[in-house]
Amino acid sequence: MKVAILGYGNIGSGVAVVLHDNRELIKKRTGVDVELKYVLDLREFEGDPIREKLVHDIDTIVNDPEVDIVCETMGGVEPAYSFSKAAIQKGKSVCTSNKELVAAKGPELLRLAKENNCNYFFEASVGGGIPIIRTICESLRGEEITSIKGILNGTTNYILTKMEQEGADFDTVLRRAQELGYAEKNPAADVEGHDACRKIAILSSLMTGKTVHFEEIRTEGITQVTGLDFAYAKALGRSIKLLAMSKRTDEGVFAMVAPFMIPAEHPLHGVNDVFNAVYVHGTMLDDSMYYGRGAGKLPTASAVVGDVVQAVLATGRHIDCDWSEESLTLLSGAKIRHRFFVRFTGSEDGDLVKKYGADNVIRIPEDNGGFALVTRELSEQEFAALSKESTNMVSAIRLED
Ligand code: HSE
Repeated sequence: MKVAILGYGNIGSGVAVVLHDNRELIKKRTGVDVELKYVLDLREFEGDPIREKLVHDIDTIVNDPEVDIVCETMGGVEPAYSFSKAAIQKGKSVCTSNKELVAAKGPELLRLAKENNCNYFFEASVGGGIPIIRTICESLRGEEITSIKGILNGTTNYILTKMEQEGADFDTVLRRAQELGYAEKNPAADVEGHDACRKIAILSSLMTGKTVHFEEIRTEGITQVTGLDFAYAKALGRSIKLLAMSKRTDEGVFAMVAPFMIPAEHPLHGVNDVFNAVYVHGTMLDDSMYYGRGAGKLPTASAVVGDVVQAVLATGRHIDCDWSEESLTLLSGAKIRHRFFVRFTGSEDGDLVKKYGADNVIRIPEDNGGFALVTRELSEQEFAALSKESTNMVSAIRLED
């Protein structure tokens, strides 16, 4: 069977490596010889052996009946959407790492794949090399999932880990993450939480079977997290992680992405560097957790090739996935309750302890111009109202227990 790769960047070139290096193994396990026929890219790659497979026109791939499977590793919604759609409409299965496209158009492409008796697989779109999509869609299909919490962005987890362990500054670590091939083309997508937001939108959709629109998910990134926050976190026996979460409540489904202070006993506490973890709770299953490299060329390419193998095995057959185009309206989040870690400037704590229902004021030597406290459990709405009145408030981070 012949495969084409759309986009020869970090992940696309990784897919070429995995298809080449594991070709015999894939043949042994599937009985099918899977061969890379085309690579689509605008660039020329002078001197690179990949040049002989290079094409610049999607029609060459879409109109070649020999091509059965297309790996879309371009990123971004367009032209990836049009190219994926064109391939699916010709009955070619598409395997993608593109969470932006899956979050924006996933259910439509799944429907088209069903109509054309082929597949749209997106294992690599969430959690890099962690096989979480197939786990939810297949292994947990008989389970009612009630919450998903995860560290879903490798770049920000790498940055937060290095800030905590090495006291490194934000920009230096971000550059290192970019050099290691973890970051998005525009790193704002990582550090502002947008990438994790797309990923939890996908997981929330799979949890509910409806479409959770990423635009509705309250999203905060890590750009406001400082070394001083880590000093306080250490004093509290906690770490700071960018968490993406989605929970069923009695009133509906709530989802959010934000930095959280988590205690040392929390299962996600020890998830460091580029690693991701997804912590899934089901009514029968109870807790389960999935861990692995959340970004990087070969781990992500491994997930794409896992989908290629699945597509080979499912030739002529559509594998259904419970994700409809019907929209799910998320809870606004105003009533969701957390405790908050809050920093203030100055030395006077006045009536702040009482106002925020804190046990005491926290002072550490690293913060000689201020202090902090941990509030009682407050709704987002209550906290927003209280913080408006506190002119000496510097920042706040939610607590997860
Ligand atoms: N930039 C993403 C991350 C890549 O750091 O997690 C994997 O989706």
